[in-house]
Amino acid sequence: MTDPVKVSVVYYSATGTVAELARTMADEAGKAGAEVRLRRVAELAPDAAIDSNPAWRANLDATRDIPEAASDDVSWADAVIFGTPTRFGNVSAQLKQFIDTLGGLWQQGLLQDKVYSGFMASSTLHGGQESTLLALYNSIHHIGGIVVSPGYTDPSKFVDGNPYGTSHVSAQGDNPVDDVARTAAAVQAKRVVLVAGALRDSLAAAAL
Ligand SMILES: Cc1cc2nc3c(=O)[nH]c(=O)nc-3n(C[C@H](O)[C@H](O)[C@H](O)COP(=O)(O)O)c2cc1C
Repeated sequence: MTDPVKVSVVYYSATGTVAELARTMADEAGKAGAEVRLRRVAELAPDAAIDSNPAWRANLDATRDIPEAASDDVSWADAVIFGTPTRFGNVSAQLKQFIDTLGGLWQQGLLQDKVYSGFMASSTLHGGQESTLLALYNSIHHIGGIVVSPGYTDPSKFVDGNPYGTSHVSAQGDNPVDDVARTAAAVQAKRVVLVAGALRDSLAAAAL
């Protein structure tokens, strides 16, 4: 029997939507047979900003037990699934900062030849659902990662409608993570685990 595929779900969430998607993604990767690490990246905002929004403070307090992401969570993994809220159509500064700390691993060639995938939330339907994931994937191309997006590989993808990754419209917290997003996460996690395992085993066989 082969070792389970190692998956790190690394996310940033201010007000909890992406945190809920991250928990779902991690659960689904586990159900697909992976060994999973769920990690949140460090918060960069000052307390005054966090305290100005009760949902932000509540999410930070509620997720303190989730370990903070470290570079080892990326080097350890066969697949990394990144999650972020949109920030004006882009990746959040907090997740981007974490990715930027991986420069040392990149120089050692330790980021390449892994599977990467992404998920996100925005407040509005056309508020960055696709552009945020494409922006995230720019960095993956630069580090030599293999982007595994869900595409329209499952009938449910014609319901959620985002082939780039799982996404959810939060309506500023009025619209909690729903079954459509959870199904998308299940499809994406399963595909990531399947492809990451095949890639890992092929690379190991080629190195023999
Ligand atoms: C600085 C900033 C910029 C944002 N830009 C957008 C945007 O361009 N479009 C959008 O739909 N939502 C935007 N949002 C809203 C969040 O992306 C959205 O509420 C998301 O669901 C929050 O996820 P979270 O609960 O995990 O933090 C922005 C929020 C902030 C704080």
